[in-house]
Amino acid sequence: MIKSNFNKKNTAEDVTNGIDLAGKTVAITGVNSGLGQETMRVLESRGAHIIGMARTLEKAESAAKENGGNITPIACELSDFESVKKCSDSIKELNIPLDALICNAGIMALPKLELQNGFEQQFNTNHFGHFILTHNLMEQVKQAEQGRVVMLSSLAHKMAPLKGINFDNLDGSKGYNDWKFYGQAKLANLLTAVSLAKQFEGSNATANAVHPGVIKTNLSRSMKGWQGMLINNPVSSLLVKIALGGKSIPQGASTQCYVATAAELANVSGKYFSDNNEERPSRLAQNQDLADRLWDFSCETLKEYL
Ligand SMILES: NC(=O)c1ccc[n+]([C@@H]2O[C@H](COP(=O)([O-])OP(=O)(O)OC[C@H]3O[C@@H](n4cnc5c(N)ncnc54)[C@H](OP(=O)(O)O)[C@@H]3O)[C@@H](O)[C@H]2O)c1
Repeated sequence: MIKSNFNKKNTAEDVTNGIDLAGKTVAITGVNSGLGQETMRVLESRGAHIIGMARTLEKAESAAKENGGNITPIACELSDFESVKKCSDSIKELNIPLDALICNAGIMALPKLELQNGFEQQFNTNHFGHFILTHNLMEQVKQAEQGRVVMLSSLAHKMAPLKGINFDNLDGSKGYNDWKFYGQAKLANLLTAVSLAKQFEGSNATANAVHPGVIKTNLSRSMKGWQGMLINNPVSSLLVKIALGGKSIPQGASTQCYVATAAELANVSGKYFSDNNEERPSRLAQNQDLADRLWDFSCETLKEYL
């Protein structure tokens, strides 16, 4: 297991201290909020050109303007496959290598079953949207001196169904549970990093997944009922933060910044990181057959957009 000099208390600024990203390009989804916004701020401050993606061009432009600096804003609505394809086409047209692609955007624990493109919305957005983006940009990542894909997974990947991915219930018609479906989507993100690592074999490119920690961001906005009250009330959310060892946003953004930039990880691929160190994921997340099956299924389902 890879051990760094950093721990859960370190911030994105700490882990990138002294790293010069001048001349590098980093593409990030979800830059208008939470961990994505902080990741953009810190990596841009280290000299990187950022391709900042948000659901709409207005949101991406406004985040870029608020931050200032060398940022190219692009619209990428992950739940809309046409939008993701258009986004990846625009990035390809820029004709520059991608030193890092950070698949950060996400939604969590939708209280009721929501469908789009015939699939449950968390799987649709968190997995399928990012699958199109990464698949279409693999060549740009390979063109970099040492390109990296960083997939935002979560400790919640351990809440996935027993079989990992319920291929026969991706529309929720055989039952829906908010956390199980979030866990399934986050397991899919992790398995995609494993598959990308396999695709990148023989090149300098790498792919890894991260759990950022437990951080109060806008991610809990969908949560309703007692969970929503607990998280969205300032007093109880502070207690939850203490109980779960919660982090600040600068600390939460650190692991993805570390995995995207640390020199010592140049040859590390297909791994899972948490608190700026390698961590063992669930058994299902290490199952190459499941990763292969998800890759093939996603390629077949999304072939129109790849
Ligand atoms: N915070 C935590 O404790 C925690 C723990 C484990 C994993 N994570 C993961 O960390 C990542 C970042 O989350 P966060 O905590 O920073 O949450 P956040 O503040 O809610 O940010 C999520 C970002 O994703 C964007 N997004 C959501 N749906 C999208 C869609 N359909 N198309 C494009 N963009 C979309 C949001 O855009 P809008 O603002 O326009 O909706 C926002 O920019 C997520 O992948 C999450 O699963 C977070």
